[in-house]
Amino acid sequence: MELFNVYPLYNVTPVKAEGAYVWDENNTKYLDLYGGHGVISIGHTHPYYVNLLKQQLDAIGFYSNSIQNPLQQELAQKLGELSGCENYKLFLCNSGAEANENALKLASFETGKSRIVSFNNAFHGRTSAAVAATDNKNINAPINLQQEVTFLPLNDIELVIHELGKEDIAAVIIEGIQGVGGLDEGTTEFFKEVQEICNKKEVPLILDEIQSGYGRSGQFFAFQYHNIQPDIITIAKGMANGFPIGGVLISDKYKAKFGMLGTTFGGNHLACAAAISVLDILKKENLVSNVNEVSNYFLEEIKAISQVKKVKGKGLMLGIEFDFEVGELRKKLIFDKHIFTGGSSNKNLLRILPPLNINKEHIAIFINALKEILK
Ligand SMILES: Cc1ncc(COP(=O)(O)O)c(C=O)c1O
Repeated sequence: MELFNVYPLYNVTPVKAEGAYVWDENNTKYLDLYGGHGVISIGHTHPYYVNLLKQQLDAIGFYSNSIQNPLQQELAQKLGELSGCENYKLFLCNSGAEANENALKLASFETGKSRIVSFNNAFHGRTSAAVAATDNKNINAPINLQQEVTFLPLNDIELVIHELGKEDIAAVIIEGIQGVGGLDEGTTEFFKEVQEICNKKEVPLILDEIQSGYGRSGQFFAFQYHNIQPDIITIAKGMANGFPIGGVLISDKYKAKFGMLGTTFGGNHLACAAAISVLDILKKENLVSNVNEVSNYFLEEIKAISQVKKVKGKGLMLGIEFDFEVGELRKKLIFDKHIFTGGSSNKNLLRILPPLNINKEHIAIFINALKEILK
C-alpha cells in the first residue's frame, strides 16, 4: 500500500534527535529551529521526558476514560499552577483541531447559537468547525462550509461589535499570535475590547493558544501580554513535546455535564506522563525566562541583516519578513547549512519555532548561516 500523498516533503529523513539537533540516516546533523511545527518544547529526547514515558509504559499505557486516572488531575494541577490559570477546568483530547472543535462545541452548547466569529488568516485546524473557522478555502470541503463563520480583520473592534450585535454568535475564536497565517496579532487594546464585548453579549471568547501557548511567546500564554481572561483556552503542540495531546481550559462559569464532551484516547496515561514531564521541565529549567533571554538576543542579532524587512511575533515564535519569497532560502538553510526553519501562508516570511531550551550559540549559528546565504 502507498501513502495518501498529501504532504510535499523535503528529502531529509531524521532518525535520531537530541536537544536542538536532529540527525539523518547519513549522520548529518541539523539544527532544529522549527521544532517539528512548534511542537518540541523541552528539546528532543529530553532524558527526564524519556524516562517518565518509559516508566509509564512499563506500568500502564492506556485505559479508557471510564476509570480513575490520577495522572489527569496531576496534569491539571501542575498546568493550573504554572500557567496561572488555576480557576479553569481542563478537558483533555488528542490534537489542536480537536481542542478547538470541543471549545466551539462547548460554546455552542452554552449559547444555543451556531455562528462563529473568526479572523482573517486564522488557522484553527482541519476538522469540522475548526477548519470552517480557518481562513483558507482550499482546505474547506463543501461539508465544512455548512458551518456559519464570519471572518473579520484583526484590530477592527467596530466590526466585532457589529457582528455580536446580531445576537446569533456562539463564539469568537482568535489565536494569541497567528501561526500559519504569518505571525500577525491583535493589539492589547483590541484583545481587551473583544473581551469586553464578549462579556457584555455573553459570547464565549476562545483563545487558541495551540501554537502560541506553553511559554513559546515569552509568557505562559500569549494572551497574558494583554491582561485578559478568556472564557476558553485551547492548547496542544508544545504540551507533550511530540506525544499527541490537546486540551481545553474552561472557565468556571461553564458547568460540566456527563457525556457533554468525550474521547477514547484523550488524557490517556502515556499522554499525561508526557505532558506532566513537559510541565516539570518548563518549571525546573525556567524555560519561559530562557525564551525571553534568547529572543532578545535574536532580535538584536537579526538587526545586522539588512535584507530583513520586519521581525514579527514574540518570544521564540518569530517570523522574519523579507521582500522576496523564502522558499529557496529555506532549502539552502536545510541542504547547505543544515538548519530547519518554517514557512507560512505569507510566502515572504521565514518562521522560527525552536525548542524553548535553545541557547544563544544556536541563534548565532543561524544568523551566520543567514548572512552567508544572503551575501
Ligand atoms: C493556532 C493553531 N490552532 C490549531 C492547530 C491545529 O492543531 P493540530 O494540527 O494538532 O490539529 C494548529 C496547527 O498548526 C495551530 O497552529
